[in-house]
Amino acid sequence: MTANLEGKVALITGAARGIGFASAGKLLSRGARVAIADIDGEAAGAAAKSLGGGEDVIAIKADVGSADSIRDMMEQIDARWGRIDILVNNAGGGKLQPFLEATLEEWERTFQLNLTSAFLIGQAAAQRMSASGEGGAIINITSVSGQRGGERRAAYGSSKAGLEQLTRIMAVELAAHGVRVNAVAPGPIAPAPGVFIHNQAEQDAYLNLLPIRRFGKPEEIADAVAFLASDESRWVTGHILNVDGGMGAAGMTTRGAQSARASQNKPA
Ligand SMILES: NC(=O)c1ccc[n+]([C@@H]2O[C@H](COP(=O)([O-])OP(=O)(O)OC[C@H]3O[C@@H](n4cnc5c(N)ncnc54)[C@H](O)[C@@H]3O)[C@@H](O)[C@H]2O)c1
Repeated sequence: MTANLEGKVALITGAARGIGFASAGKLLSRGARVAIADIDGEAAGAAAKSLGGGEDVIAIKADVGSADSIRDMMEQIDARWGRIDILVNNAGGGKLQPFLEATLEEWERTFQLNLTSAFLIGQAAAQRMSASGEGGAIINITSVSGQRGGERRAAYGSSKAGLEQLTRIMAVELAAHGVRVNAVAPGPIAPAPGVFIHNQAEQDAYLNLLPIRRFGKPEEIADAVAFLASDESRWVTGHILNVDGGMGAAGMTTRGAQSARASQNKPA
């Protein structure tokens, strides 16, 4: 284990489960003190307990879609540790809606959740990192859906594309303050057991888009988060790191045709 985050304080939003939870565990294992913030306060408490970090882990009930709740979350970290060194803007999501049926309400909710939250929390954290004189690291969790055209993702994909641009702009402005800002863009992550986001046919179709032909694991995103949070990436800022099984790199491929041919060639 590399204890290269010893003494650092990390805030991870949406960390009660999934990628956020895996990132919290990873940063804790590297020696950081970790705040698990989530709209589901009970799940955040259970997640904090399950990590077994004692005094080094706190749970905060926070809605990143609310400026008041964000202010309260930052004040809780001030009161507890009086500093913040690492921010992972991970809470995010959105309903998939066909463009012709997409609603303004869902568009605005998705932008609030994925983009406005990162602006507000990023600004609050960067002000503290700058004032401390020690700087820090901000990691935004974007998505391959923000880079590639995809179905039913007008709001989700556009908000994640905006988050990538916010990442670059913050990186340029905050470099002088010792704050590095990067993003991790995950490809499709295997859903937790019992969670059905996509049906089997959709999952099979996505697999055809992945050169490394499997879904990712939350821990594989967490490894990239830990790298960008640590001094190992000290000369990296404004970078979008795809952790996606090669999905973002792939263009025309005959993979789907190959599997269709393979199944056609199978004896009946
Ligand atoms: N899972 C994937 O396949 C995938 C792929 C690309 C990008 N991403 C991105 O990774 C991030 C995490 O994804 P995940 O699949 O681990 O998510 P998840 O849905 O498993 O967990 C999200 C967590 O965020 C919390 N949350 C939701 N709304 C919140 C709010 N308003 N305030 C605070 N917390 C809130 C939820 O309670 C939950 O604990 C998201 O930004 C997502 O867009 C995920």
